[in-house]
Amino acid sequence: MKAYVAFLGCKVNQYETELIIEQLERAGIVVSPQPINVDVCVVNTCMVTTEAERQSRQVLRKLKRLNPKAVVIAVGCYAHLNPKSLADCGADIVLGNAEKTKLTEYINNWFETRKPITFVSEPDYQIDQPVKNFLAERVRAYVKVEDGCYEFCTYCVVPIARGRKIRSKDKESVLQEVRNLVASGYKEIVITGVNLGKYGQDTGTNLAELIEYILNNVNDVFRIRLSSINVQDVSNDLVNLFKYRDKLCPHLHIPVQSGSNRILKSMNRKYTVEQAVSLFERLRSVDPDFSITTDIIVGFPGETIGDFERTLALISEVKFARVHAFKYSERPGTPASKMPQKVPSEEKDRRMKLLKELADKTAMEYRAASVGKIRTVLVEMSKNGVSHGYDEYYVRHELVSMKPGSLTKVVIRKPNGVGVVSQVVDLERNMAQ
Ligand code: 5AD
Ligand code: SF4
Repeated sequence: MKAYVAFLGCKVNQYETELIIEQLERAGIVVSPQPINVDVCVVNTCMVTTEAERQSRQVLRKLKRLNPKAVVIAVGCYAHLNPKSLADCGADIVLGNAEKTKLTEYINNWFETRKPITFVSEPDYQIDQPVKNFLAERVRAYVKVEDGCYEFCTYCVVPIARGRKIRSKDKESVLQEVRNLVASGYKEIVITGVNLGKYGQDTGTNLAELIEYILNNVNDVFRIRLSSINVQDVSNDLVNLFKYRDKLCPHLHIPVQSGSNRILKSMNRKYTVEQAVSLFERLRSVDPDFSITTDIIVGFPGETIGDFERTLALISEVKFARVHAFKYSERPGTPASKMPQKVPSEEKDRRMKLLKELADKTAMEYRAASVGKIRTVLVEMSKNGVSHGYDEYYVRHELVSMKPGSLTKVVIRKPNGVGVVSQVVDLERNMAQ
């Protein structure tokens, strides 16, 4: 039997896609890299915005069209929150987030009965399964250490799909998972969670302790990166880790969402702009180049021109290495969807354009400031004599062709449209590695 697995959305969904692939392979199903001539299609969907929803449906329909005889299964946050819409779209089996680990049972059942099924249970499942391999990216592997979020930001559907209870993987299991991935050759391990900053709240530990534990016990890990974390969860202990542990990438994705305290309050975010800026200053006092990437929502209900200008001012001040800008998207069942003073669509588009222009410019300034500096690039792919890869600051490098998976010291020559162009230092020694 052959299967194809597609995913949309965040790093957590990407990690869980790998778990799905491994689960299918354990059951003797061959997972194909091509979406054709397969018997099973799985779409791990996302519902964070209307756009993510639309893309999830589009992928599902396309797979159905390419494989009319296959059983099409929808899982993930969208399937969890609106199963009917995906069944209407042609999915034969629609499952919630807790059912992701039992896919093969549903597949067997389908081939016995050919009966469509929708099943969504409470998202309070434990998260104890480790991933063994990471096929989607060959050089970087993700480890999910936490699930669940209770923050209830007023725009967000995630807590409904993921459960409010924080569930953390125990330190030993995380350690084992990291060890296995490092032993399989992964050079960069990304630690991720639905609300990563709350890691350990249920088990009496915290993220800083976890990272310290990994670094102390996996000697041959090349580097560790943290994925998204909220302002209020970056503890002093965590900041200090960046001071002393050179295997921890000096990069954090800290979603600020807005530069206006009024809007942050209405979003139910638990920090002020001043607190965010003070955190960024602390991180940059550890390392002046510390890379901060962020998410911004444009056109949240009630966002005035003044609020928007505060966001622009924040972007100018902080010089984020990258800004992911989202147009506010009304999500069913969220408090923000009931708020008055919606920003008209054309106005959201206008603000989005202005914000992106500014964010591109300040990100370019951030990269231009690194010209002449030495960085370590993990080469991801090579094509037409050119390689690409990311450095420890999460800046994308273009360099001379090298083997994917190799680590190389480079000197940054100039910024380009999306990253930097750099030159390999000590090419011969690097090639010999
Ligand atoms: N509308 C627009 N953007 C959203 N995000 C989450 N929910 C919404 C929404 N309803 C964005 C946030 C978050 C990122 C993952 O998605 O910026 O940090
Ligand atoms: Fe999408 Fe959010 Fe669910 Fe991730 S947690 S899959 S981004 S809705």
